[in-house]
Amino acid sequence: MNKHEWWKKSVVYQIYPKSFNDTNRDGIGDIPGIIEKLDYLKELGVDVLWLSPVYDSPQEDNGYDIRNYRQVDDLFGRMEDLEKLLEEAHKRDMKLVMDLVVNHTSDEHPWFVESSKSKDNPYRDYYIWKEGKENGEPPTNWTSVFGGPAWEYDETTGHYYLHIFAKKQPDLNWENPKLREDIYDMMKFWLDKGMDGFRMDVINFISKDPEYPDGENGDGSPYFMNGPRVHEFLQEMNQEVLSNYDVMTVGEMPGASPEDAKRYTNPENEELNMIFTFEHMDLDSNGDKWNWTNLDLVRLKENFEKWQTALHGVGWNSLYWNNHDQPRIVSRFGDDGEYRVKSAKMLAICLHMMQGTPYIYQGEELGMTNVHFETLEEYRNIELLNMYKEKKEQGWSHEDLMKAIYVKGRDNARTPMQWNDSENGGFTDGTPWIQANPNYNEINAEQALADENSVFYFYQQLIRLRKEIDLITDGRFELLMREDPNVFAYKRVDDEGSLLVVCNFSSEEVAIDEEVLKEIQGKPIVITNEAEANRDGLASYEGTVYRI
Ligand code: NOJ
Repeated sequence: MNKHEWWKKSVVYQIYPKSFNDTNRDGIGDIPGIIEKLDYLKELGVDVLWLSPVYDSPQEDNGYDIRNYRQVDDLFGRMEDLEKLLEEAHKRDMKLVMDLVVNHTSDEHPWFVESSKSKDNPYRDYYIWKEGKENGEPPTNWTSVFGGPAWEYDETTGHYYLHIFAKKQPDLNWENPKLREDIYDMMKFWLDKGMDGFRMDVINFISKDPEYPDGENGDGSPYFMNGPRVHEFLQEMNQEVLSNYDVMTVGEMPGASPEDAKRYTNPENEELNMIFTFEHMDLDSNGDKWNWTNLDLVRLKENFEKWQTALHGVGWNSLYWNNHDQPRIVSRFGDDGEYRVKSAKMLAICLHMMQGTPYIYQGEELGMTNVHFETLEEYRNIELLNMYKEKKEQGWSHEDLMKAIYVKGRDNARTPMQWNDSENGGFTDGTPWIQANPNYNEINAEQALADENSVFYFYQQLIRLRKEIDLITDGRFELLMREDPNVFAYKRVDDEGSLLVVCNFSSEEVAIDEEVLKEIQGKPIVITNEAEANRDGLASYEGTVYRI
């Protein structure tokens, strides 16, 4: 590991500013609110903070629709606040990474305003405009990720523009070298301020198939994911910008395979440091994410094995269970009732002992859970609201839709951070933009800090172990007990020895394979969530790591 690869030994904490901590009582989290909590984050031990977008935005998609890349949204504070946050984070030896959303902008971005004015406007080619088909239909049959067609007709010029996400999120045209240059300049603007890198939103969508073919059942993804020029664009970005700074980069990449990931993250290719894969997050869906199913642990294990093996010694990966788009992991793969604390710790062990850079999403370190709002009106996120309308028309019942929202909705992750048991979980003294999860009375940071057995201190321990044991960063991954439906067991191996990790994903006591049992018998425990570890089997939701 060379010294520029500090991100290999780092743990990243994701802050969703809107829901983190409100200091000006407008019900929306803000940057001064983040500054107030830096000591809390330092106590947890994380090395890097990733801020979801705080740029000026009409907030159609909570800031993933940017109107001005060089300005902080009034909702969150001023540029001076952000600079102060950076300074205060650095003072505490933590780094700060910004979200870079450059597959699309807001339709209120001045580039788009210009671009829509006329076909010969100098900014016309900053976006993807096309004529409709001869029959007047949109240029392709692609549907948008948030529902409805991916093309919007524009009266002024009689052309359609592409929006893979909401109508108010037109896709940028990366074929245009001038656009690319403007993006690189903007990136330099932030890095020159001292920012420590970028999390790049759907960055593998930036190169589209120039033929723009129709997709099967309207699915355009084969023609915009991992497109023909994406590696060229990322190499150029690296050359022009990233290589001149000591920063970390992580590309969000739905639809990327381990083979793709190798190309994106192999240092020889000079593109990105790591990516976010989606495969492990898609296993509890039947195609469409709302068509949820229970997790098949055997498939999850196979999937991690595939990624851990493919990237070892070639590229690098991120490790995550949670972010602002995913339901809470303890409700999803654990048990948010009786075994909430225990299963949250087991899930943490299972993830943090693998190879890669772990990401913790705000509240994960408290074992925060999914939310069950009674009415649709209490939900906020655009994807879920559009989905409800669309599927209702297709004949889904209200009950099934609400159930799908409880299980998969993005708002599960977006309820306010739970700081204490005062009103709104201490997130705001105003009216929160989205209601707090009513369980803040019981699950909150104040409680966690006062309890030495809390999920918080368990994460703290895992973060510390990563600093102390090089095997966690460097070792090879070997899957054990492959066919077992309840136990996720693996080894991390190098020349010096190994770590053996056993995790029980069920509320039952389960047996361990003879061979594994032999290996762990009498061996020292590195970390466990079970007081009586080291018996013949595993207790409910037990997670234990042995040094072999
Ligand atoms: C991925 C982001 O994580 C998500 O929140 C957003 O809606 C889409 N990209 C569009 O920017």
